[in-house]
Amino acid sequence: MPNILIISGHPDLKTSLANKTILETLDTSDLPFVLRRLDLLGWDLDVEKEQSYVREADVIVFQFPLYWYSYPAIIKNWVEKVFAHGFAYGSKGTALTGKHLMVSFTVGGGSDHYRKGGQNRHPVEEFLYNFEQMAELCHMIYEPPVYSFGSAYIPGVSTEEDRQRVIKNSKDHGQRLLERLKQF
Ligand SMILES: Cc1cc2nc3c(=O)[nH]c(=O)nc-3n(C[C@H](O)[C@H](O)[C@H](O)COP(=O)(O)O)c2cc1C
Repeated sequence: MPNILIISGHPDLKTSLANKTILETLDTSDLPFVLRRLDLLGWDLDVEKEQSYVREADVIVFQFPLYWYSYPAIIKNWVEKVFAHGFAYGSKGTALTGKHLMVSFTVGGGSDHYRKGGQNRHPVEEFLYNFEQMAELCHMIYEPPVYSFGSAYIPGVSTEEDRQRVIKNSKDHGQRLLERLKQF
C-alpha cells in the first residue's frame, strides 16, 4: 500500500465549500492518507517535520482552490520552504526522486471560460506547466491532474441551487480522486 500525503492548500477551510467537501469525501473511504492542513499549520512551518512527511510519501497530492490561475500563496510558501535545494533538487537533492506528484484543484470559472477565445484564453491545464516542471526538476512522476470547474460558491450572491451543485460536483471530484489514488 503506497503512502499518500495530501497537502491541503486552502487558506481557510472554515469558509470553503468545494475543498472542504472534497476532503470530507476522501474521509468516507478507508483509503489511508496523511493530511497536512496548511490553514492550521500557517506560514511559519517546521520544515524538517514537513520534509519527514514528504520522505515517507510515495504519492504527494496538492489539493487547493485555483487562485489567480495558480495555487494559493500558503501552499506556495510550503513548496518554497519544503522543496528546498539539497532536499528536493540540486546535485544532492534526491528526496523526491521517483515519487508521484498530483494536483487536485477546484476552479471558480466554467469550462467555457478556459478555452481559446474564452474569458481566460487558455485551457486550464495550460496553467499547470509549473507543476509539471516542478516534478521534472525534482525527478518526480507527474500525474494527470484532477479538477472541477464551476466550484465557486459566494454566500449572499450564489443561490441555494448553486450551493447544492457545488456540493454534488465536489463529492464527484472527491470520488474521482479516490479512484485515482486507489490505483497506486
Ligand atoms: C483570491 C481568489 C482568487 C481566485 N482566482 C480564481 C482564478 O484565477 N480562476 C478561477 O476560475 N477562479 C478563481 N477563484 C475562485 C475559486 O477558485 C473558487 O472560489 C474555489 O475554487 C472554491 O473552492 P472553496 O469552496 O474550497 O473555497 C478565486 C477566488 C479567490 C478567493
